Order: sequence, then C-alpha cells, then structure tokens
Amino acid sequence: RLAKPSQIYAPLRANSQGVEFGDRRALAALLEEMDAAREPSEAEPSAATKSAPRDAASPIDGARVGRVIEADADNVRTMMAAASAAFPRWNATPVATRAQIVESAAGLLEARRGAFIPLLQSEGGKTLDDALAELREAADMCRYYAGQARAICCEHRLPGPTGEDNRLRYDGRGVFVCISPWNFPLAIFLGQVAAALVAGNAVVAKPAEQTPLIAAKAVALLHEAGVPRDVLQFAPGAGDVGAALVADSRVAGVVFTGSAEVAQKINRSLAAREGAIAPLIAETGGINAMIVDSTALIEQVVDDVLASAFRSAGQRCSALRLLCLQEDIAAGAIETLIGATKELRIGDPRELGVHVGPVIDDEAKQRLDAYIAEQKSLGRVIYEGEAPTSGTYVAPHIIRLGRVSDLRQEVFGPALHVTSWRAEEFDALLREVEASGFGLTFGLQTRIEERIRFVAARGPAGNVYVNRNMIGAVVGSQPFGGFGLSGTGPKAGGPDYLRRFVRETTVTINV
Ligand code: SER
Repeated sequence: RLAKPSQIYAPLRANSQGVEFGDRRALAALLEEMDAAREPSEAEPSAATKSAPRDAASPIDGARVGRVIEADADNVRTMMAAASAAFPRWNATPVATRAQIVESAAGLLEARRGAFIPLLQSEGGKTLDDALAELREAADMCRYYAGQARAICCEHRLPGPTGEDNRLRYDGRGVFVCISPWNFPLAIFLGQVAAALVAGNAVVAKPAEQTPLIAAKAVALLHEAGVPRDVLQFAPGAGDVGAALVADSRVAGVVFTGSAEVAQKINRSLAAREGAIAPLIAETGGINAMIVDSTALIEQVVDDVLASAFRSAGQRCSALRLLCLQEDIAAGAIETLIGATKELRIGDPRELGVHVGPVIDDEAKQRLDAYIAEQKSLGRVIYEGEAPTSGTYVAPHIIRLGRVSDLRQEVFGPALHVTSWRAEEFDALLREVEASGFGLTFGLQTRIEERIRFVAARGPAGNVYVNRNMIGAVVGSQPFGGFGLSGTGPKAGGPDYLRRFVRETTVTINV
C-alpha cells in the first residue's frame, strides 16, 4: 500500500532547523544587531599559564578572529583542584537555582545573538542559517536540561513495606570533563556543559582546538548567568590537554563528542586510571546511509540529499555519506541530483544565499583533497563542483561506488557516495549498511508502508529518518545519538541524558 504523497512532503519540515528568511524585516534587524555587536574575542584558561598567546584564523579567509592562550598540563591540575573543591557547594545548591541559572544563560544567549552569530561564522565557517540554527539549538539544550533536572535531580519517594521509608536521590557525581568538537562549537559545547552543571557537577570544559573563542564566550555567559567561577573551568587546547584531563584521578565522568578513534582512546585512558570507575558518554561519527527505493518521490529525495550531504559542508556527524538508489531509478535520480548540486553556491558563508562554506581548516581540506584525488584515480568521481581557490573550500563531490563496503571510513566533508541495488537485494543491503559497525543516522525514502514499519522496527541506526532529510535533530523531539562505533548513548536532547551525569543514592530508613 502506498502512502499518500502529502504525508511524505509534510514531515517535520517546520522542525528541521532550517531558517526561513521570508521575513525581510527580521533579517534586516538581525544583520543590524550583528553589525553593532562586533567585538574582539579572546580565549584563555581559567588558571594562569605560561603558554604564549596565538592568533586564531578564520577558515573563510585566514583573517585574524581573536587571541587564544592554551592550557597546559600544570594549569589543568590547578583547574581540576579548584573544580573539585567547588563541587560540594554547587551540588548542595538547590536544583531550582541551578536550573534557573542555566535557563537564564539561554536567555542571555538569545539576547546576545548579534555577537555570537558573527563569531560562529568567522571562527566556525558557518552560513547564517546554520549559525542561527545552532544558536537556537544551544538555547534549547539549556532549557531542556534545566527542565529535566527539576524533574530528576531531587529526592523520589519509593514504595516499600510498612515501617520503611525508601528514597532515591540524584546528586552530581563530582568533576565532569566535557570535550567538544568544532562542528557545533556552541550547541554541543553548551549542551554538554549545561547538562553536567545542572545535574550538580563541577566542570572542566575543553573546546575543540579550532573553536575556542565561541566556547570562551559561552563560558563567560554561564558565569554571568550565575555559575560560580570555580564550578566551571575552561581549558582551551589541543589533544594533549584533553588527555591530561581524562588521566586525572579526580575525574568523575567524561562527556565527549568527536571521532570514534579518540572516544576509544578516552575509554582506554579512563580504564587505566587508579581510583573510581568513571563513566564515558561518547557521541562519535557514522557512515550514514540513505536507502531510496523506486517508489520514492525523486524531487523530495534530491532536496533531502542536498541538505543531508552538503549543508554545513558535510561537516555534521549526522550527514549523509552513502546514498543507495534502487537500480531502476538510479540513473535518473543521479542526473537530477547532479543538476541540483550544480546550483549550490559555494563561498564566503557570510554572504546571504551561499549554501556551502569552507571546511574547518587546512588540515581538513588537505585530507579531503587527498581522498578525492584517490577516488578520481579510481575513476569513481562522477561530479566535481567548483570552489574558491583561496581559503579552505572543498566543493561538493559525488562519488560512484560499486558496493556499500567500498566505503570504509567516515569522510567528514562534502563528498557524497552513491551506489545502486536491485529490488531483491534490500535485506542484504540493509545488512551491509549495518556491517560498518557504526549506527548514527539512517535515511529511508519509500512509499511502501510495510517497508517503513520494517526499518523502523529494526532500527539500523540511533536516528532513523523516513522521507525527510537526516540532519538537524531537534532537542526534546528527536533525541540524538548512535550506537556501536557511533557512541555510547544516552542521547543528547533526550529524557535519559541527564541520568548519566548523576550519582544515585537509595536511603532506606526503618521508621
Ligand atoms: N545533532 C546534529 C544533527 O542532528 C548532528 O551533529 O545534525
């Protein structure tokens, strides 16, 4: 039985974090706010260091964005000691107060969007709609976790035999280390930190090496909102800072978003430490696939593929990497897709109407360029876009593969792989996709209702998207995160996230 087309076009579009610029006055007001709020940016660790300052350069054009001083092993220890000492008092602060502080940080963030958005663009290389969506997501995370904390982080009376009083209480665990990525330098940074703080933990936060300035602004915002300085420590730096933090025996938990490889390293490092067993909450990447069968609506498929594969220059962990088209529609779909990809504007993301901005830095560009050159030498590149020659731009590419298993790694950029399958191969195809060991996002485009039910029940990835794009999970509506090599769970923006940040105590009193 085929679903009605209207059901296919309708889904969640209003929730997909796309920003409509239909309201010209609102857009003009935002641009004015951005102009008025430009200010110098600085990032430095919460404890003094002898490290020399360095300039942070924009991925857009290499221009100086601000000044960064990085943490070192010594001041990491000082920060850890200060956070440990500050923890008991923060944990004893009523949850209502902690929640109200985190909520007011969300309000401040919205009020200061004029300052945050230009920095998301210059330091993070974001287009205006990506930057706005990220700001909204960051505020959503703060408000959602504050609400969750009010419900969870208190004393719950439990049933028991007469004469016994049973209670379950949730407290912070101690010092949480939060290590976040550059691709959502505000939303993921603030989401991790807000969750840990509101649950009663002290925090040492290490932003990605590429995006410390936005993170520094978010930390200042939380302090201004009322988080005591010692409770939230800031440790900008590279991987060695993260490694020093994770190795510290005072760490009560780690939340990490980044590559599967680094998540494995953190896991090993935590296991090798003396002292308490600390949990790791890891959200990593995926070889995310979308399966399209011959009943799908091609125009919608193309629209959703463009957003999933090329928005944010493909630098989302949720992004589509592998498009699997049923053989009988493959040639036509590829032709339409190439036609639509040609229409994408690649360039300075601060210009309205640009769809694809730069990748994050030279290293990322070089890695992607080398990968694309290799795919070219194998004769697999069927479409190559054009990108500006200065700056760290990589144009959208479409790469034709013989089999699903030809894609063995997550290619973190605007490179979409396409493969085709025959009608009788659907189950085998699904198994092949699952065999990557990752399980973050998965897309299905079909009008066969039985197939939708089958895939939904099977759950080939943590976030399954049917007949829509695969990015932009909405806090509270689409809890986000994968399994296997894609992460440990619990899902960010979901009802179970905060429970991993707390210590539970059951008290039974014989009355
Ligand atoms: N949460 C983001 C999204 O859904 C992924 O990083 O696109």
